[in-house]
Amino acid sequence: MDTIADPLAAIRNLVGADEPEAAVVPASAEDCATFDDDAIVCTCANVNAGEIRNLVRSGTCNSLDDIQVKTRAGGGCGACLPFVAGIVQVEIGLRPQD
Ligand code: FES
Repeated sequence: MDTIADPLAAIRNLVGADEPEAAVVPASAEDCATFDDDAIVCTCANVNAGEIRNLVRSGTCNSLDDIQVKTRAGGGCGACLPFVAGIVQVEIGLRPQD
């Protein structure tokens, strides 16, 4: 399997941003809720919503960048990035507060 040296390269190329994660507008919580856990969010990397949710819930991933490094989601065409970012945002919001 090929490795992706820069998982944010696709979105950087699309938006021409120096900080691509900041350029991604997360999908709404309502839109993200339409993904069942087994629904594929990123077809390029074959990553489903449950995998993203579990990585955030476990504390393994704390940002879109973390998810991209861990799963490669969003590292292809970049079309899924709003949904990946939205799911990350929703799950972080659901974490118990200290
Ligand atoms: S669908 Fe996720 S990078 Fe293409």
